[in-house]
Amino acid sequence: MKRREFLGATLAGTGAVLAGCGGGGGSSSMMTPPPVSAGALLAEGQPLKSLATLANASAGAGQFSAALAAAPATANLVSGRTTALWLYNGLFPGPVVDVREGDRVRIALENRLSKDTTVHWHGLPVPADQDGSPMDPVRPGATRLYEFDLPRGCAGTYWYHPHAHGTTAEQVSMGLAAPFIVRAANDPLAAIPEVTMLVTGIRLGSDGQVSANGAMDFMFGRQGEQLLVNGGRLPVHTVLPGATQRWRILNATSGRYLRLALDGHAFTLVGTDGGLLAAPIAGLAEILVAPAQRIEVIVTASSAPAARFTLRAQRHVSDNMGLGSYAGEDLLTLATTVDTPLAPLALPAVLRALPPRAPAVARKRAVLTQSGGMGMMGGGFLINGRSFDMNRVDFVSTAGDTEAWDIVNNTFMDHPIHIHGTQFRLASRESAGRVTPAPYEAWIDTVNVPAGETATIEVRQDLPGKRMVHCHILEHEDAGMMAVLDVRPA
Ligand code: C2O
Ligand code: CU
Ligand code: CU
Repeated sequence: MKRREFLGATLAGTGAVLAGCGGGGGSSSMMTPPPVSAGALLAEGQPLKSLATLANASAGAGQFSAALAAAPATANLVSGRTTALWLYNGLFPGPVVDVREGDRVRIALENRLSKDTTVHWHGLPVPADQDGSPMDPVRPGATRLYEFDLPRGCAGTYWYHPHAHGTTAEQVSMGLAAPFIVRAANDPLAAIPEVTMLVTGIRLGSDGQVSANGAMDFMFGRQGEQLLVNGGRLPVHTVLPGATQRWRILNATSGRYLRLALDGHAFTLVGTDGGLLAAPIAGLAEILVAPAQRIEVIVTASSAPAARFTLRAQRHVSDNMGLGSYAGEDLLTLATTVDTPLAPLALPAVLRALPPRAPAVARKRAVLTQSGGMGMMGGGFLINGRSFDMNRVDFVSTAGDTEAWDIVNNTFMDHPIHIHGTQFRLASRESAGRVTPAPYEAWIDTVNVPAGETATIEVRQDLPGKRMVHCHILEHEDAGMMAVLDVRPA
């Protein structure tokens, strides 16, 4: 389709949606999302919380065992109001699972919600039947044990969240999401102090309650959330001047693109979804962290005492209609104390050996399109022309085969595409006939595919079973932008 026809079709599709959901309005309002009412605002500027850790109930070497309960809870997030949430172990955000490569993990989930849930171990190479996919719901009142081994080489920053059919977005928006950190025995950055920053979003109505998703949210991803870091709004992270730290930043929002920049500082990128890069990449003014992605960055704070700097998610233009659905927003303040500056810490030149990309023995194509309707209004975003059906198999792979997947985005906006069960590599991107190789080698489990582009990734699944392939804008996933990959034994 030529660009102009493509845009025309897109605009027609959008108009149909707005008319269909009663938005109506003239042609100009059709192009502007309705303002999201501010609702109740959270207090800003508290110290950055450190997240609670899920306690290990096992004393055995290499064993981690714990219990998680997903349950209704309340929190005092805004003054004079009690907000109803759904939480893991009553914590907002949930507790960090902090484990080591080689560990045997056993976590029992008790579902005290009134609907099905699961725990999905996002990005980890767990067996298909332990993956917490929508095919294995945990019914209200039920408890199930998840059990898996963490293989060598999987150290990295992951997260866990519910993945129940059709209600993932709702459950995450109610507070169910938390980090899962796997450590290596020989971490080359072990001497550098680290901080975990879990970015989530919350949208409250004027009654102080989490508001439900509407048609606009299902089209663009949940709109108008207040971004939180470790559950706090614009928290202050205080360090000694000149301090060098390793920040693990997780994008656990429903659908916000975080184009991160820290005023007056550059980032050194050392890790992505699946752990460390081969070597640090210094001097980055900004890094785009798509929904579900994680990064590890080294930040050396300014040596100026008593100074303040803002970590910002800059405006990200995700759509070719210029709706600007991802406005810029401040995330956190980095503050230095009045103490004598520390000397910066040096980084190793090499972080780890990444295996070279293997030649692909098969090729797959996943074309992202949209149908006339959108989201819950019917239709929506499709993968190879189809909406999710867990009783259908959309892709078949063979365990152990390296495959090249071309993910073609023929819609008007970006989609962060995630594949369960493994980490993969970006090989190249193609836009308007121009191919750009991946700028560096990295393990990722979610690739952002901008509107009009094709991303080519190289994937190898080692464990057989059925896996989800989906957009990680959770409203898109719930509305059917998901497919089933059946990995057959070799
Ligand atoms: Cu983080 Cu299928 O999900
Ligand atoms: Cu996942
Ligand atoms: Cu999407």
